[in-house]
Amino acid sequence: MQHRVCLTTSDRLLAKTRLLEAATAMNSKVYIETFGCQMNVADTERAVTGLRKAGYEMTSAPDEADVVLLNTCSVRERAERKVFRRVGELRKSPRRPVIGVMGCVAQLEGPSIFQKAAAVDLVIGTRATDRIPSLLARIRDGEKFVIDLEERQDGEVWDVSPAERRSPYVAFVPIIEGCNKFCSFCIVPYSRGREKSRGATEIVAEVRQLRSLGYKEVQLIGQNVNSYRPKTEDGLEGYVGATPFSRLLRAVAATGTERIKFTTSFPRDFHPDIVSAIEEYPNLCNWVHLPVQSGSDRMLKAMRRGHTSADYLRRVEMIKSSTRRLSLTSDIIVGFPGESEQDFENTMQLVRDCEFDGLFIFKYSKRNGTPAANFSQPVSEADKTARFLALEELQSSLQDKLYNKQVGRTLSVLVEKQSARSNHDVSGHSTCNKVVNFKGNMKQCGSIVDVLISEGKPNSLYGTAISG
Ligand code: SAH
Ligand code: F3S
Repeated sequence: MQHRVCLTTSDRLLAKTRLLEAATAMNSKVYIETFGCQMNVADTERAVTGLRKAGYEMTSAPDEADVVLLNTCSVRERAERKVFRRVGELRKSPRRPVIGVMGCVAQLEGPSIFQKAAAVDLVIGTRATDRIPSLLARIRDGEKFVIDLEERQDGEVWDVSPAERRSPYVAFVPIIEGCNKFCSFCIVPYSRGREKSRGATEIVAEVRQLRSLGYKEVQLIGQNVNSYRPKTEDGLEGYVGATPFSRLLRAVAATGTERIKFTTSFPRDFHPDIVSAIEEYPNLCNWVHLPVQSGSDRMLKAMRRGHTSADYLRRVEMIKSSTRRLSLTSDIIVGFPGESEQDFENTMQLVRDCEFDGLFIFKYSKRNGTPAANFSQPVSEADKTARFLALEELQSSLQDKLYNKQVGRTLSVLVEKQSARSNHDVSGHSTCNKVVNFKGNMKQCGSIVDVLISEGKPNSLYGTAISG
């Protein structure tokens, strides 16, 4: 039987685009360099999935690439400067690939990138990931300075082929994109746009699929995972919980995936029911990353965090009084405009009180376009450095004590790779997200091993396998 196919104008256009894409893709090799957070890692995985479907080959060698894409970060100035340095290097390479900038710098700087770095051919905004093949086709077609800063479009859904994932054992699953919080120092709401939650049905299906493929750990990711608020409750029916996020945690835990972690949590939205869910489901891991940024209420107000240090400490107390031993990590910014010695001392005190299992310390970096960029009383670079070092020293002494307390305990470790320090050791993460090294071999990669801890080191633990 024969079918007559009637093409509308838009069908024809689509067909033309596809042909163009296929022609572009033939024999083209793409290299993607990823900077920044897990969301960028996840976006790269999504971009690679789409490129491969469109016929591109991927390469891990920039020298042999026809197209180099830099997936960029703009959270601090240093990360942003790196991009322009890399473009300078690529421009000089003998093969002179097509150069594209994607990620946060692309979204924020837009067309001005072409002025700042004339070697850039393509600018891909944070929501244009799925359209990279057709953007490349336009370049091959002779168009110059191609740019796409548009929103995601209907029908563009999260689709990552398992083959393109960074790790065969740990998978990132984005549950919410963007941020509505507008902390005064932070560029993310501008680079990533408003909060947009993925449907729970889709998330749970992806987690199930990952489990059937042998993934041992799933990390639910988002700028603020606990602000998760999907349009409908589809997929969450039958799961109790005080917030959509705590219902999602239970739905994901019910898939039976061995380990589920989630990051990052926003203090104001951190509901006690998250801790209850962790207590109910052993496969929800015993780790919470809860950035505080400062221990001074004056600074927290200027930062527009929407919480005081007492609010934060109440949440810490709730987390620490859980029936499970939950590990707690945080982020702090030192040298925010107007931060006095007393403000900084309050931060030091909060760190002493919280006894964090890990702490990421950042020197404040002015981001144009954020409210704090116009704040007066900048802190000198020397003071920022002094505070950074003082806080680092305090944290490392507190962390030493905390890590030494782990000696004699048994931790469940997902083995991920050979240890960087010794060929005889392997390395992985515990459920509480600590790095654990122990004597073992590469055959153990991907398995979960009980490790008896014998020694605490500055940022890792050492032990002996007692199972697996
Ligand atoms: N909620 C997000 C925050 C993203 S930014 C998350 O943690 O995933 C990550 C961290 O970078 C923030 O918690 C903050 O400590 C730091 N940061 C953000 N903007 C900064 C700036 N302008 N200067 C220094 N550090 C900054
Ligand atoms: Fe940035 Fe604050 Fe959102 S730190 S990502 S604006 S919660």
